[in-house]
Parts: sequence; C-alpha cells; structure tokens
Amino acid sequence: MIASYARWQPEDHGTPRADVLIRPVRPHDVPALARVMAARGGAPETHTDAAALLLDRAPVLLLAVAEDGGGDALGWSGALQTSVHPGEHPVWLTAGLTVVPQARRAGVGLRLLHAVAEAVRTSRIETGPLHSVVNTRNRASLALHARAGFQETASGPRFAGIEFDGGDGVLLRRR
Ligand SMILES: CC(C)(COP(=O)(O)OP(=O)(O)OC[C@H]1O[C@@H](n2cnc3c(N)ncnc32)[C@H](O)[C@@H]1OP(=O)(O)O)[C@@H](O)C(=O)NCCC(=O)NCCS
Repeated sequence: MIASYARWQPEDHGTPRADVLIRPVRPHDVPALARVMAARGGAPETHTDAAALLLDRAPVLLLAVAEDGGGDALGWSGALQTSVHPGEHPVWLTAGLTVVPQARRAGVGLRLLHAVAEAVRTSRIETGPLHSVVNTRNRASLALHARAGFQETASGPRFAGIEFDGGDGVLLRRR
C-alpha cells in the first residue's frame, strides 16, 4: 500500500536538483498530473477527472517537470480561493502539493511552494496571504511549510471542508 505521507526523516538532507522546471499545467498534462496525484494513493485513472477539474477551476496550477530525460512530471501544487470556515470570506489556499517518491528531498516541494506563493502574489484575482492546511501527523509537510515561510495560525479538526484523518490539523499562513 502507498503511504500518503512521506516518512519523517529529519536526520536526512537532500541535494537540490538543478534540472527541474516549474511551469503551469497545460491541457495535455492531465494524464501526467493524474499520475503524480496517484503517489498519494489510488490508480492514476481514478485521478483523471479530478485533474481535469483542477485544470478548469484552479487559478494557480503548477507542475514540476524534469528538464532532462523526457520531461517526466515530478510534482504538482496549486492554489484556490476558498473559505476556511463556512460563510467566511475566501482566502488563497494551497492545493495538492505532491512530489513523486523518487524525486523527494531534492528541493522540488520547496520550489513548488515558493512558485505557488509567487503566482498568488501576482494573480489578477485577489491578493492576500497564502494559507495551507496540514494534518499534524504529516511532519514532513509541516517541516517543508516552515522552510517555505509558513506559520501556524490555528489548529482544529477541520478547515476549508477538510476533515483531518486522526482528528488534528493546522492552518498555516505564509508570512
Ligand atoms: C511533503 C512533500 C511534498 C515534500 O516534498 P520534497 O520535494 O521531498 O521536499 P523538499 O526536498 O523540497 O524538502 C525541503 C525541506 O522540507 C523538509 N522535509 C521535506 N521532507 C521531509 C521529510 N520526509 N522528513 C523531514 N523533513 C522533510 C526538510 O527541511 C527539507 O529540507 P532538507 O532536505 O534540506 O532537509 C513530499 O514528501 C510529498 O509529496 N509527500 C506526500 C504528499 C504530502 O504529504 N503532501 C503535503 C500535503 S499538505
């Protein structure tokens, strides 16, 4: 079975890859996006509809690809405008953020988060801080968000309609 979170390995440190390009997702990328989504569970085909919907709806949708060796998709992330609690004004919230296991600890996740933040900052829709919601069990993602300049603003069982497996999650905001 695929683990949906990366193992917490604070003693290891990656070497940043130089051959990675972060670019907007294009219509022909839907199968590649679905393959990256499957790194968190499920067969790629089961993610195709969600990938196509994101392409249609997400104002920010980015793919990390290897510049060498055929342009393999290594990771994705995006951002949507959504309410943290029902009835509240929408805020920018990161979506997805997945790096395929074979490309982890090479700085791809960090670059994706920075690129999403920059795309939100220059978006024509509405500016405002970028938020993320992370399960407290997902220590790798929490460490990555801290590296990318996010700080915890609240904790609870549910944010933006996401109910946390295990019961606890945090709302983070980028400084
Ligand atoms: C979380 C995830 C996106 C990180 O992607 P990544 O490309 O491996 O992350 P980076 O190489 O950019 O890591 C940057 C820093 O984050 C921290 N970090 C990332 N993964 C870590 C891990 N497994 N253990 C400890 N720290 C980690 C480290 O500080 C790391 O810097 P270092 O390698 O110099 O020590 C990836 O593990 C993943 O796809 N996990 C499964 C899906 C998921 O949980 N997504 C997040 C949902 S909120």
